[in-house]
Amino acid sequence: MTPPDSFPPGFVWGAAAASYQIEGAWDADGKGASVWDMLAHQKGRVWEGHTGDVACDHYRRHREDVGLMSKIGLQAYRLSVSWPRVLPEGVGAVNEAGLGFYDRLVDELLAAKITPWVTLFHWDFPYELFLRGGWLNPDSAKWFSEYTAVVVDRLSDRVSHWITLNEPQCFIGLGHLTGEHAPGLKLGLREVLQAGHHALLAHGLSVQTIRARAKTSPIIGWAPVGSVHYPITPTPENIAAAYSGMDSVWPENCWNNRWWGDAPVLGSYPEQGLRAYGADAPRFRDSDFDIIKQPLDFYGCNIYSATPTQAGPNGEVRVAPLPAGFPHTHFLWKRTDDALYWGAKFLHERYKLPIVVTENGLSLNDWVCRDGAVHDPQRIDFLHRYLLGLHRAMRDGVDVRGYFHWSIMDNFEWAEGYKHRFGLIHVDYETQARTLKDSALWYRDVIRSHGANLFPSATPSSPTSAPASRNAGSPALAAT
Ligand code: FCB
Repeated sequence: MTPPDSFPPGFVWGAAAASYQIEGAWDADGKGASVWDMLAHQKGRVWEGHTGDVACDHYRRHREDVGLMSKIGLQAYRLSVSWPRVLPEGVGAVNEAGLGFYDRLVDELLAAKITPWVTLFHWDFPYELFLRGGWLNPDSAKWFSEYTAVVVDRLSDRVSHWITLNEPQCFIGLGHLTGEHAPGLKLGLREVLQAGHHALLAHGLSVQTIRARAKTSPIIGWAPVGSVHYPITPTPENIAAAYSGMDSVWPENCWNNRWWGDAPVLGSYPEQGLRAYGADAPRFRDSDFDIIKQPLDFYGCNIYSATPTQAGPNGEVRVAPLPAGFPHTHFLWKRTDDALYWGAKFLHERYKLPIVVTENGLSLNDWVCRDGAVHDPQRIDFLHRYLLGLHRAMRDGVDVRGYFHWSIMDNFEWAEGYKHRFGLIHVDYETQARTLKDSALWYRDVIRSHGANLFPSATPSSPTSAPASRNAGSPALAAT
């Protein structure tokens, strides 16, 4: 039961980041190159020629960063492992120094009572395997499983929470169709969806590998993004249109929930998607879904914004116009307060798995003010609104187990370079100085009060606002 004025005990409060976006040390200690190293080093690919070569230098400053996470009172930290740091050629020889880095990071997190949630793939695909066809090569699923085994063998005595892939819609769609992201290809949709099919096979094999080898009982999910729609006004027609928007596979692009979500959870591609993609649908065997569909412990979702939706005259999905001056973030993503509400509700109803918000946040143009602090009232206000929406979904019966803010610290925002600041911690990229933003201190209070401070009427003595246990998960997501 979700209490009316706080989040349930056991709800996990975390923050996230990804290897290429924060680690730097791109060629240190035997690390192999990734497709992001390749792309960022090409002229004109990333805003102002920025690269992740140094980024937040987290590879060297991880101890300090874990200390800051501790100050915020994080219960969980979602990190990703760089595949080519661990396996410089993607398969074969293990780079002990690279694996050792994650080993130490996990130990530091545990010592600070922060539960590591490990994402195996957040886009830094090994360059050497790209030369062998990358995700287009049917062997890519086996490569990923081999890499999974190396990481699981090393970390699973201490790590229980695993996320296989982050946002196939992006690393396949933006990486292979529109070419904005690494590896920067502009292929036909047919080839793109074939690469996507291999990535889904990789997910399935990886889950099997984790379950077969983990030394502690694993809790496994994945973290897709998708297309969230919200009704511009909550009439039955507009709600139905918003649902239909979230339910649809649109031809000619990869932005949808169901093509990617149905296969691993329900074990088939959606009929409507097969019709929408037509001749572009990938080649597959029905038995592929025996691999792709694996039991999952949670459905992760990365949600930032939603599309305002209204019903057309015949109930069709229409994007609703918004007034001039509608609030938006530095990225020009709309502030849509009910994005988590509708997103979590839809995904839970469709897939019937516990939901974890694996990413949510916003970019702002934060700077260190004259008083030495970083004041970001808009981040606080944004998160407050979104978290109330998430809470409302839970009150409506949606089983949400956790929330990960994107991001723990400002970082390299892919093709946008360092243009956007998403962090709770401000990073000065020249000096590598870190400053906790106002929002970090606010989030610390959210965590401490277990969300009770989001509800003005709640009193600190309310039994549901007791400080959270730092390392706990709700029963299904707790490590055993
Ligand atoms: C998501 C990515 C994450 C970050 C946020 C802003 O699509 O998973 O790495 O870039 O967007």
